[in-house]
Amino acid sequence: MNARLVAAALALATAVAHAQENPVARGLAATCANCHGTAGGSVTAEVVSLAGLPKEHIVSQMKAFRDGTRPATVMQQLAKGYSDAQIELIADYFSRRPR
Ligand code: HEC
Repeated sequence: MNARLVAAALALATAVAHAQENPVARGLAATCANCHGTAGGSVTAEVVSLAGLPKEHIVSQMKAFRDGTRPATVMQQLAKGYSDAQIELIADYFSRRPR
């Protein structure tokens, strides 16, 4: 096995190990990481940190974006891709992250 294959195998093993912790919620929350940070901590000052926000707040805001009742720049588009059940999972995940 060459070095690149070893690295790829290790990366895959790590991904599988992480996925086993909380596969669905972690996977869904990963979509938000580009802007809101990997653990929910914000990347930039402009985008709010999701880590430790109340679950109800995240759920209500995601639904407001999705339904168009809260105007937004990007979130109204993103929120359309998630079902109620998925929003619940994502909100639960972020609400448990340390602030
Ligand atoms: C492309 C960057 C980007 C991605 C990806 C993204 N967001 Fe956002 N998010 C924003 C921006 C920017 C705002 C501010 C509202 C706006 O202008 O859209 C925001 C606002 C929010 C808010 C409102 C927070 C508050 O208290 O006002 C929530 C909740 C939220 N995002 C959740 C999520 C979730 C959950 C995901 C993953 C499914 C996600 N976001 C993915 C950029 C992003």
